[in-house]
This record gives sequence, C-alpha cells and structure tokens, in this order.
Amino acid sequence: MTASTSKTIASNGHCNGTSRHGAGRLIVMSNRAPIRIVSEHGRERVEPTVGGVGSTFLRLLERHGGTWIAWSGGPRSPAPLTMPPGGEPRFRIMFAPLGEQDISDYYYGMCNRALWPLMHLMIPRSHFSRQHWQRYERVNRRFAEIAAREAVPGDLLWVQDFHLALVPQYVRERRADLPIGIFWHVPFPPEQLLRILPWREEFLAGMLGADLIGFHTRSYATHFLNCCEGVMGLRVDRERGEVTIGARRVRVGAFPLGIPADFFAGLAASDRVRARVARIRRAIATPIMILGVDRLDYTKGILERIRGFERFLEQHPQWRRRVTLALIAVPSRTKVGDYAILKRELDELVGNVVGRYSSEGWTPLRYLYTQFGAEELVAYYAAADIALLTPLRDGMNLVAKEFVASQVGDRASVLILSEFAGAAEELSEALLVNPYSVDQLADRIYQAVEMPPAERARRLGAMREKVHANNLKRWSGSFLDALDAAAGARLDDAVETRA
Ligand code: UDP
Ligand code: G6P
Repeated sequence: MTASTSKTIASNGHCNGTSRHGAGRLIVMSNRAPIRIVSEHGRERVEPTVGGVGSTFLRLLERHGGTWIAWSGGPRSPAPLTMPPGGEPRFRIMFAPLGEQDISDYYYGMCNRALWPLMHLMIPRSHFSRQHWQRYERVNRRFAEIAAREAVPGDLLWVQDFHLALVPQYVRERRADLPIGIFWHVPFPPEQLLRILPWREEFLAGMLGADLIGFHTRSYATHFLNCCEGVMGLRVDRERGEVTIGARRVRVGAFPLGIPADFFAGLAASDRVRARVARIRRAIATPIMILGVDRLDYTKGILERIRGFERFLEQHPQWRRRVTLALIAVPSRTKVGDYAILKRELDELVGNVVGRYSSEGWTPLRYLYTQFGAEELVAYYAAADIALLTPLRDGMNLVAKEFVASQVGDRASVLILSEFAGAAEELSEALLVNPYSVDQLADRIYQAVEMPPAERARRLGAMREKVHANNLKRWSGSFLDALDAAAGARLDDAVETRA
C-alpha cells in the first residue's frame, strides 16, 4: 500500500500536500515552449506560440510556478528565461538546444512527418526514416539529461506529448527516485495502426518509463493498453489501468484536459472584449456568424468544413446573405510539404466560394490567416453564433471548450463539433458531426441556424457546466494526485522487493 494521498502545487511551484515526496518543484517538459523570442530591427521580443500544450501549461505555471524545459523553436538556445518577462517572476523556462539537423530530422522528420500523422490515423501521410528515428532518440536523450540534472530529490517531472515519448525511460535509467508522468495530447492509435511504426517496441518502452501515462479519453488509453499487451507481450490489468513491466507497475488512465474556464468567461465579460465583439459583429454584418479556429493543419478538416458550408448555401438559398463563415487559420509547420499543399488548397477553395457566392454587400467567407492573442480570440468566440469545429481527428480540441466557456450572460450559441475530436466525449450536447460527410455538415449548419433559442440554451448550459466543473485546476490536480499515488506505490513495491 502507498502512504501517499493527495498533492497540490503551491503558488511557489513546490508540490505540497500529504505527498511522500515532500515539497518538490514541478518540472514540465515539452517540445514546444509557450513563447518564442522574435528578433526584429535588432530588438528582441517575446511572443506566445499556438497549440494546446503551450496554452495549457503557460496558464498552469503562471499560477503555480515551476520549471519548464522546452525547445526555443530555432537553432539558437537562449539563456534560461524568467516568466513573465519583465514581470514578477512566476516560473522559469530552460531551453533544450536543438541544432539545424535536430530540427530537420527530429522535429520536422520524426515528429511531424511520421508520428503526427500516425497518431491521427492518417497512415498515407506517415513517412518513416531510420535517420529521423535515430535523431529522435538522441534529442529525447538530450531532454532527459537536462531533466535528470535539473531535478532535485522530491521534484516531479511531467513530460508532454508525442515528441518526447522516450524521455520517461531515459530519465528513469538515471533517476529511479523521480516521479515521472507523461501526458499524451494527441490521440493514441489502435494496435493495428501502431504496429506500422518500425520502432514500436522502443517507442512503447520509452513511454513505460513513466509512473503514470495519461490520455484525453478512455479509448486512447485502451488502445495503449492493447499495444502493451499485443506488441510488447506485457501483463495488462484493464480494470485497474495498469501495465507490469519488469518489477514495475505503470498506471494508465484517461484525464480529459480541462481549460481555465473562469479565465475565458471573465475575459468574455470584460468591457474591452465586449467592445471588440461589437466591432467584429459590425464588420461581419450578417445576422448569423459562424466561426472556425484552428492551426492550419490537415487533421483539422478545414477544407471539409468549407465544402459543408458551400453545400449549405447551395441547398438553402434563403440563408444566403444572412450568414458569414469566419475562418481563423493559424500558420503552423509551414516547412512541411503537406502543410504547404494544404495552404494552397485552402487559398483556392476560399477563392472559389467567395467568387461563386459573394454578392453586393455580402462576402460569405472571411478568412484570416493569422494568430490571435487571448483577448482577440475570445472576442471572436463571444461574437459567434455558431462554432463549426470539424477535425478529422483531434486529441481533444481545446478551442471547443474555450468557445463554450466564452459564452456568457444570455448568450446561447451553438457548437457543431466533429465526433472525432476527444472533446466530443464530454461535450455530448454539441451537434456532433461526421466531418467526412459534406451532406451531414450542411445539415448540421442548417439545424444550428434553425435551432430554437430554448434548445440552444439547454445544450449550451449543460456544456458550460461540464467545462467549468472539469477545469484546468481540477485536471492538473487529478493527474498529479494519480502520479503521486503511482510513484508512491512503485517505491513501496521496491522496498517490499528488497525486504
Ligand atoms: N489559439 C491561440 N490563438 C489563435 C488560435 C488558437 O492562442 O489565434 C490557441 C487556442 O486558444 C487553444 C490552442 O491554440 O488553446 C489550440 O488548441 P487545440 O487543442 O484546439 O488545437 P491544437 O492546436 O493543440 O491542435
Ligand atoms: C499540437 C501538439 C502540441 C504542439 C502543437 C503545435 O497541439 O499536441 O504538442 O505543440 O500542436 O504544434 P507545433 O509543431 O508548432 O509545436
């Protein structure tokens, strides 16, 4: 039995509570840092990066403190940075150095051309190269060495996402004392697909160096357990969510990522955002505004979304001139061929729809190829009547939750959400859609524009409750509690084995 029960992170970044590990620091590790340093006209400034991991842990560490180990986003590795820059220090970012070859083979090659499409079940887009894999191993080892050096006894290491799958094992080799958790922000594929990865055993063994492995949904966790059993021949206890590897037991569970719901609701209710909402609505100038927000990624179903919107306009001419689709597409991974092709296809499709349907005083589609900060983004969320989020596959889709949290007062907007987003498991009151079906997309848009206010309010209210209940604080607390218990049990097992 473990003596550990609950753990919280105090505002100084130290883990408190009845943990057996004492008051340690939280060390977060991810490939992407929450900020990048931009040089312009000989001056440097810091700007936020976009993506679920960055936005989540930025807010978490801003509140709780700690250390974050990540790549700077370029071949230069700046000195550690105290965050926020120029403000009262909340946490520290240490940069893991990556050279040009690392960036090319590890980040663009193994992470973005092999693992990303594989995790999203898009096999034809996956390219495997031994050189990329070897670089992935080297970079993971480098990250692990920094963590092993940085952590003092009592600290806790929380690794993020598929870029760093081998880190738990590499750190474990050097630091048996350290509680190590890994959270998987993308889907985890079924065994038959994971088997495609030529280095599947090494990959799984790397993750299994952790005490706790967290996924967004039960089905991703189940896929992972099946892989441990089927690919690695390990003993798996599905009931307890546990894998036995050698003398260790690894806990595996579903921890659906929460958002800081109060932060979004507060921002949406602020005067500045309300003024901005009014300006956006004046510019849109139709009674209904539909919104899409994504990184420009082929997993997000952006082309499918536009085709669905086009079909809707085709089938329901009475709605022309009364709706506008605003698409915010954030530039992402632009050096990867598939992303560059998608950009060209998107430009062309947007041009076709605008050309075909626009009439005097009405542009059916506004396309913003840019990145917004929180305030501007929330203004778009709050201005929209309908969010149309149609990923072909998505680990969670935080935008869906952020949109729900940003509907305040008597707003009753509609969420149309892909059934293939992890968020669909919790947000079951959304209008769920199969994004591969153009007709279904058109039907859902029609259903949304025609939905009576009472039904809109009922659906939104139920979703809002869930988003506020399972918020970021609750999520991080439950992951860290489980990590504490898992690491405690491991240390107990080790003591029993020695006795
Ligand atoms: N985001 C942002 N600015 C933008 C668009 C998006 O900061 O212009 C943030 C958004 O608030 C969300 C994250 O990027 O927290 C996207 O997370 P999501 O899980 O939806 O998708 P991901 O990009 O991680 O695949
Ligand atoms: C997804 C991944 C994150 C990643 C983000 C942005 O959300 O799960 O780990 O940081 O996309 O992608 P990028 O390649 O720019 O880091």
